[in-house]
Amino acid sequence: EKGGYPHFMLKEIFEQPNCIRDCMRGRINVEGTNVVLSAIIDHKEKLLKAKRFIIVACGTSWHAGLIGKHLIESYCRIPVEVEYASEFRYRDPVIDENDVVIAISQSGETADTLAAIDLARRCGAFIYGICNSVGSSIPRSTHTGSYIHVGPEIGVASTKAFTGQVTVLAMLALTLAKNKQTINNNEFLKIVGELMSIPDKMEKAIQTNNQIASIAKVFTYAHNFIYLGRGYSYPVALEGALKLKEISYIHAEGYPAAEMKHGPIALIDEEMPVVVIATHNGMYDKILSNIQEIKARKGRVIAFVSEGDEVISKLADICIELPQTTECLDPLITTIPLQLLAYHIAVCKGKDVDQPRNLAKSVTVE
Ligand code: F6R
Repeated sequence: EKGGYPHFMLKEIFEQPNCIRDCMRGRINVEGTNVVLSAIIDHKEKLLKAKRFIIVACGTSWHAGLIGKHLIESYCRIPVEVEYASEFRYRDPVIDENDVVIAISQSGETADTLAAIDLARRCGAFIYGICNSVGSSIPRSTHTGSYIHVGPEIGVASTKAFTGQVTVLAMLALTLAKNKQTINNNEFLKIVGELMSIPDKMEKAIQTNNQIASIAKVFTYAHNFIYLGRGYSYPVALEGALKLKEISYIHAEGYPAAEMKHGPIALIDEEMPVVVIATHNGMYDKILSNIQEIKARKGRVIAFVSEGDEVISKLADICIELPQTTECLDPLITTIPLQLLAYHIAVCKGKDVDQPRNLAKSVTVE
C-alpha cells in the first residue's frame, strides 16, 4: 500500500529516516559507544586476516559499493576493489582464499551478482552478502552477511535500499576498524554519534521536498544533466544521474568534478544544468573552484550545500541547504534531494515513476 503517497517511490524516499533507524537497531548500543554487526564478530578471524576486499554489485548497489570502498579503505586500511558483477564474472579474475568478496544486492536475485559469487566461491574466497530481501538467493549462497532491514522496496528505482546499504557498510567498516585497531577511539565515537543522528538529519533533508519540486518545474524539459561530486560525493553524483535517467529518461552523467577539465567541460553552455554536491567537508575548496569553472562557461549550477553556506549561494544559480554531518556519512543526506529531484522531474514529465519503461525490479537474467 502507498500509505497516502501518490507513488511507492515517494513513499520509500520519505520512509528513509525510519528505515535507517530499523537498519541500526540492535547493532549500535544506546550509549553510542559500540557497533556490532554479528556476522563480523562470528567470522572475525577470516575478516581481520583478509588481504583484500572485492565488492561485487550492479547499478545502484554498485554505487553503494563505491562508498563502501572509501569507508573500508579509510578506516580499516584494507585495499578494496569495486567491480560490476557482470564484468567480474567473465574476466577470469585473480582471486583466492585470502580475499573477502562483499556482494551487495537489494533483491538478492540479480543473476550477474549471483554468478560472480559462484565464481569467487569456487576460487576459495569468503563471501559476505549485504541484501534486503530476506531468504532470497544471494543470502543463501553466501558464507555470511548482514540484512539492511529497510522493508520491501516496490518502486523500481532503488532509494531506501541504497541508504540502507551505505548504513550497513558504515557499520561494517566501524566494526572491523575497531577490531583491527585501525581507528582511534575519539574518531570512532564521533562517527558512531553522527550515525545515530542521521535519521533526524534525513528528516530535515526530506523537508527540501517543496523546494525541489519547484526546481523540477524549471528543468522539466532539459535534455541533459551533469552531476558532480568529489570524494564520498562522487558515487552520490553517479547515483543522482542514474535516478534521473531511469525514471525521467533524461540523459544524465555523473563525474568526479575534477575530471571535467579532461573533456566533459566542453559540454557546458547556458543550456546545461549541472548538479553539484558541495557540502562542507574536506573537498569544499576544491569543489568551489570546480563550480567557478562551470560558471565561467555559463553552466546553470544547482548546488547542494551545508546549512549556512554563504559562499556558494552567491555563485550558484540555485542553492539548496542540507544538514551537515561527518564527511563519510554525507552520502546518506545528500542522496535524498537527488532522489527527490529525479522523482519530481519524472512526475512533471508525466512518466510512470514506479514502473519505468524497459526496467524490472529484479534482474534475474544476464
Ligand atoms: C536502480 C536500480 C538498479 C539496481 C540493480 C541491482 O535504481 O534499482 O540499478 O540497483 O539492478 O539490483 P539489486 O540491488 O537487486 O542486485
